[in-house]
Amino acid sequence: MAKNIQAIRGMHDLLPDRIGLWQRLEDGARQVLESYGYSEIRTPLVEVTELFKRSIGEVTDIVEKEMYSFPDRNGDSLSLRPEGTASCVRAAIENGLLDQPRRLWYRGPMFRHERPQKGRYRQFHQIGVEVFGLEGPDIDQEVLFLTHRIWRTLGLDGLRLEINSLGEGEERAAYRAELVSYLRAYAEDLDEDSLRRLETNPLRVLDSKNPDLGAIIAGAPVILDHLGEASRLHFEHFCAGLAAAGIPYQVNPRLVRGLDYYNRTVFEWITDDLGAQGTVCAGGRYDGLVAQLGGRPTPAVGFAMGLERLVSLLEARLVAGEATADPNTLDAYLVAVGPAAQGAAPALGERLRDAAPGLRLQCHCGGGSFKSQFKKADRSGARYALVLGEGELERGVLGVKPLREEGEQRDLSYDELGPFLLAGRR
Ligand code: HAM
Repeated sequence: MAKNIQAIRGMHDLLPDRIGLWQRLEDGARQVLESYGYSEIRTPLVEVTELFKRSIGEVTDIVEKEMYSFPDRNGDSLSLRPEGTASCVRAAIENGLLDQPRRLWYRGPMFRHERPQKGRYRQFHQIGVEVFGLEGPDIDQEVLFLTHRIWRTLGLDGLRLEINSLGEGEERAAYRAELVSYLRAYAEDLDEDSLRRLETNPLRVLDSKNPDLGAIIAGAPVILDHLGEASRLHFEHFCAGLAAAGIPYQVNPRLVRGLDYYNRTVFEWITDDLGAQGTVCAGGRYDGLVAQLGGRPTPAVGFAMGLERLVSLLEARLVAGEATADPNTLDAYLVAVGPAAQGAAPALGERLRDAAPGLRLQCHCGGGSFKSQFKKADRSGARYALVLGEGELERGVLGVKPLREEGEQRDLSYDELGPFLLAGRR
């Protein structure tokens, strides 16, 4: 027997029994995003590798070891996108979208060759936001208000907000020098990974998950002490705006993010309910990236949320019995018995759909006895079976039999059917 082909490790099918959760999450987020006036953008899944190298940074985990890169047939190096920001910036520059402030959002799969574990996958999904052309702390606040409203819309509580400021380039450079000399004094105690980062990307040492380094990291100098006046004021206004809107936050001076393009505001929404992979949404300001990729200098801020992690949270919080499966339950399943009825049924199905837009109707295909068709009607989850036999065909009616509750079969004319089925929806 031929060997079964399986999905790639870390890449998952999203099956109908959980799709209701995904749709609830995506619909809820989209409604909030639209209510704030954000416009959707869709970019290709594949970009030239150079785009990610130049934006995310050559010495980040993503670019160094997690990208799915491959040569195109003409030799160009291409990569599956590991995140959405770089593509959005490329698209905004290329399509001349930066002539005025823009509030964009996107959703879709991203690809990173990470070690798969709960909450960490090789294909995962994000909903993200990127705002271009606005430099004040008011827009940083807005994107956080927006995320907060998405949590409330979805009924997700217990998420913690951590924020920090990474300052501007010169401020960060001065801080980096001080951090490096502090860490060098502990060189003998650092692990291999941190020693490497000390040389290439020292701020990332603060992100180490090694508990043995906890005390060293806790004693390290903090970037907030190195902010200039403008960065400090920006951060203060940002914090004040969160407080005014009643959004609790913690300043975490060790929050540095794993992508190189950030400056000033950075933030993460974190849950304690998912184990090690607890960050459900993360982002910040990246005022230098548009110019770095060849556009006119344009301030920018954004975030992305990880949908797999949010779906897990949603699932855990569902009250018992609440549906997680496909919520689009069928209104009716049409069974047809006898050659004349079977011949007429498909066109009749179309007539019913024309008369009642939005009707969720499935017509039986594949023939079979009345009994076997009726079994399929029941298994389809539909609320009603519609029965078309030779007699119904002659009388111009359909037999309507409730499948989810007790009740006799009764005849309804084609015109009566649509309104009857739509009115009875829960
Ligand atoms: P990121 O922190 O790399 O940021 O990813 C954002 C979120 O995507 C994470 O907090 C997490 O929820 C989810 N995520 C990341 N990697 C995985 C994975 N392997 N499996 C499952 N979920 C994952 C960015 O991607 C930036 N582009 C965010 C941003 C937008 N900054 C400014 N604008």
